[in-house]
Amino acid sequence: MALKGRKVVVIGDGAVGSAYAFAMVQQQLAEELVIVDVFKDKTEGDALDLEDATAFTAPKNIYSGDYADAKDAELVVITAGAPQKPGETRLQLVDKNLKIMKSIIEPLMASGFNGIIVVAANPVDIMTYAAQKFSGLPKTRVFGSGTSLDTSRLRVALGKQFNVDPRSVNAYILGEHGDSEFANYDEAEIGGRPLKAFAKDANLSDDDLEQILYQTAHKAYEIINRKGATYYGIATSLARISRAILRDERVVLPIGAYLEGEYGLDDIYIGTPAIIDAQGVAKVIEIPLSPAENERMQASAKTLKAITQDAFA
Ligand code: NAI
Ligand code: 2OP
Repeated sequence: MALKGRKVVVIGDGAVGSAYAFAMVQQQLAEELVIVDVFKDKTEGDALDLEDATAFTAPKNIYSGDYADAKDAELVVITAGAPQKPGETRLQLVDKNLKIMKSIIEPLMASGFNGIIVVAANPVDIMTYAAQKFSGLPKTRVFGSGTSLDTSRLRVALGKQFNVDPRSVNAYILGEHGDSEFANYDEAEIGGRPLKAFAKDANLSDDDLEQILYQTAHKAYEIINRKGATYYGIATSLARISRAILRDERVVLPIGAYLEGEYGLDDIYIGTPAIIDAQGVAKVIEIPLSPAENERMQASAKTLKAITQDAFA
């Protein structure tokens, strides 16, 4: 697939979509950025507003567009969908957001689009599954943000705990982007030294690490209770994923990938590290999990499978 145009279409210009567009402009990642939403005044206003930023970044073609504009895009990022209300879980959004996903994918594919789709709308693992099914695009070219945001939350928490830059913390949140997610503490390391050795030095027990996981998995609820939505974290995660695609980086990132046998799982999108390049998911990285972690992976997958089977019955 050609990289020449670096054209990106963001579908959904709400809190997440507009923060993502801003991150893309700030990081100068796309040559052409098209914003699509049912709320046309918002996309037109955002395009005009973002255009003002380009005098300080670099010339960019940013505009409010339509599905037809996706015809020759390298990347479509889908953030359209209802967000959680305070107290609501991601999985409770499934019915309304599946309808929205269907109404997006049909005109998107009718445009002749043949690039990569990255999904952020929740529940993201199910919405990614739906986007792939509805679009018929290869599974490597449709993937989700998965546990990208959750992994950054975990790394920030562990970085604070051990007073180290979060970028040096090699730990992942795996599984569902949601309540059944878990951390791979048994394999995690900082600078090649096991994370559990750092925990021991700091007198942190396994229960303390579980508490950090709990806070990580519940951070979205804390943010939503205070300000109604989360968007800066996911916007930056999505920009990071976009950079990997647009610059053909072959970088390892936590995302929501389609599994075909990895972790003993099939026909599911779920959070795992993967190598990302201009073709999408070049390779899923299967972390050799400890038996206890593997049980959590299986339980998380079971939760997602039950919802998927219901939704696609
Ligand atoms: P929002 O309500 O601010 O924005 C949603 C946007 O989607 C609105 O502008 C709306 O007009 C648009 N929209 C609705 N139906 C559409 C359609 N058929 N076609 C085009 N646009 C349509 O919501 P927010 O906060 O931006 O969240 C968006 C989604 O992202 C939610 O599902 C939320 O749960 C999810 N999210 C996912 C995260 C992740 O880590 N994967 C993190 C944060 C949010
Ligand atoms: C988040 O984790 C709500 O999925 C969203 O911030």
